[in-house]
Amino acid sequence: MIPLLIIFLLTGHASAASVTHEEALQLRDEVRDMFYHAFEGYMRHAFPLDELRPLSCTGEDSLGGYALTLVDSLDTLALLGDRNRFSAAIEWLGKNLHFDKNKTVSVFETNIRVLGGLLSAHLIATDSSTGMQIDYYNDELLQLAEDLGRRLLPAFETPTGIPYGSVNLLHGVNDDESKVTSTAGGGTLTLEFGVLSRLSKDPVFETVARNAVRGLWAQRSQLGLVGAHINVFSGEWTHKDAGIGTSIDSFYEYLLKAYLLFGDEEYLYIFNEAYKAVMQYLYNDPWYLEVNMNSAVVVWPLFNSLQAFWPGLQVLAGDLEPARHTHKAFFSVWKKYGFTPEGFNLATSSVQPGQRSYPLRPELIESTYWLYKATRDSMYLDVGRDIVASIQHGARCPCGYCHIADVESHVQDDHMESFFLAETVKYLWLLFDLAVGGHNMVEKGPYPYIFSTEGHIFPMTPEISLVGEHCAYLGSFCNDNLQESDLRSPTNSSISDTDAFDAQVYNESWYSCPVTGGSDEESRAFSLCGPLKGVCPGINCWQRLGILPEKNVAAQEEALHVKKPKTLRDRLVELLQSSELHSLLTQENTREEVKAKEATQLSKDGDSDKDAIQHSDKGT
Ligand SMILES: *[C@@H]1O[C@H](CO)[C@@H](O)[C@H](O)[C@H]1NC(C)=O
Ligand SMILES: *[C@@H]1O[C@H](CO)[C@@H](O)[C@H](O)[C@H]1NC(C)=O
Ligand SMILES: *[C@@H]1O[C@H](CO)[C@@H](O)[C@H](O)[C@H]1NC(C)=O
Repeated sequence: MIPLLIIFLLTGHASAASVTHEEALQLRDEVRDMFYHAFEGYMRHAFPLDELRPLSCTGEDSLGGYALTLVDSLDTLALLGDRNRFSAAIEWLGKNLHFDKNKTVSVFETNIRVLGGLLSAHLIATDSSTGMQIDYYNDELLQLAEDLGRRLLPAFETPTGIPYGSVNLLHGVNDDESKVTSTAGGGTLTLEFGVLSRLSKDPVFETVARNAVRGLWAQRSQLGLVGAHINVFSGEWTHKDAGIGTSIDSFYEYLLKAYLLFGDEEYLYIFNEAYKAVMQYLYNDPWYLEVNMNSAVVVWPLFNSLQAFWPGLQVLAGDLEPARHTHKAFFSVWKKYGFTPEGFNLATSSVQPGQRSYPLRPELIESTYWLYKATRDSMYLDVGRDIVASIQHGARCPCGYCHIADVESHVQDDHMESFFLAETVKYLWLLFDLAVGGHNMVEKGPYPYIFSTEGHIFPMTPEISLVGEHCAYLGSFCNDNLQESDLRSPTNSSISDTDAFDAQVYNESWYSCPVTGGSDEESRAFSLCGPLKGVCPGINCWQRLGILPEKNVAAQEEALHVKKPKTLRDRLVELLQSSELHSLLTQENTREEVKAKEATQLSKDGDSDKDAIQHSDKGT
């Protein structure tokens, strides 16, 4: 069975016909069945423990003992339209979940999995446009989220503002808690904490999350790179390898997404600087290396599986070409083994010792979904089909889906992370559902949704997304407790209090772009909030920020003819709305051109493994 699978994977992709509409429908339903096999397995054998052990059909409290997999699955249930299970789960959690437990938990994992899961389910259950509104629901999940958020707050009491890695839900930070945390640990809080602030009307959450990002960014190297681990007291890096994968990944992701969700330009400026540095020092087309953050000397010529989220992020940033190259290279690793190993050595073109497992990670699928959404290239459906086949053949086990302990032997491990249901299956389902019309709340809802790093969906409702703008301009959606300065304020002088901030970034000259239309009232409003709020035509800002290449002449001309200038955020948000996305991103390169280019590329470079060797040779 295993050798057969490998043959299928090696030959199947090249020869199999592209996914048809019929097949996409079947695959979508197959993915739904995958979800239920795992979800029912969890409910039957593990619930209310945190996670399922799918080989032995038992459960384990792997994180905080807070019914983790159920909380993490809520918005997937809603997306699948399963009103019965969604409402039953919410009812159970409202009655039974509590956090006054003597448990020391990871701030990062608790935030992205539990806080994010509760908040997104709350937003779905209170919104009639989702089709999942629950009449008797009484904000129980929001109350739980707020209680949990407060229990995490003691972790932020550090000189740098960067939180400790772990906190005890009952007692706060333990005396013997490590002072070292990861960059992702400190930089992956803004979405959940920001949403919590806006829903609970208490700015404290948003404030501490922002300070954590400022604290990290303040310690960036001269090159604009961040390391992997940092001492939250001294601000010293204890692990100076810069990369986009393990320990750092979602720091980058949340910079851009916090800007998109909240419109807070501080995050955009930081993202932009950080992104430029990554593309300059880590990107070695199509791979990303790990380098010393100060010298940019290559430390590890490794692909690690967490890096695979990056092409998806690039789609959101509008940088499509490198995203396509990189996705293709990463998928070549998947095809080689049927799964991506945690580490793949680019120099030896083999699995990195000690990093042989595939714990059902979603990142490559996530990027596949975004690239399909951006290009509608059926190649990405073929990728999805291969991935479904691999998981079905290699990872399905008696009571759920099993981790793969070794991508070469395909030996299974008795574990199923909750993110399999929160992300892996969700992105697969979204991919095939989009292929057959995308009649779900994410694709057809009244507002775009921003995905958290755990795949939880946050809608850009006025209550969440426009609080800052409305407070600044219109005075609506404001709450007495919410100060404008707490929410978003690149012009606020308090910023200059922190070393984190490059005063140059907020140079007044940024605010004096010529106004190309609109009433005086509007112009004044725009000038309050910086260069990107429509003061200059959107596309110039893209170029200025390096997010769109200059060659995009057609788009530039189009932008100049738009009556009301679009902000950068408007444009990025459009990318989230599928019909626009396709035309926006393919203006510069028609699909034929892209294909022709890739064909030349292929014949020039041979296979990507050879590439890898060349690149790592160059790098060292
Ligand atoms: C909390 O748990 C720790 C370790 O499990 C234990 O040593 C301590 O006594 C507990 N404290 C309370 C108040 O239950
Ligand atoms: C900045 O914040 C401070 C303190 O919250 C406030 O007094 C001040 O008016 C703000 N300044 C601007 C320009 O918004
Ligand atoms: C702002 O930028 C202009 C032009 O780049 C420069 O001349 C000026 O000195 C800058 N001001 C500050 C406060 O950095």
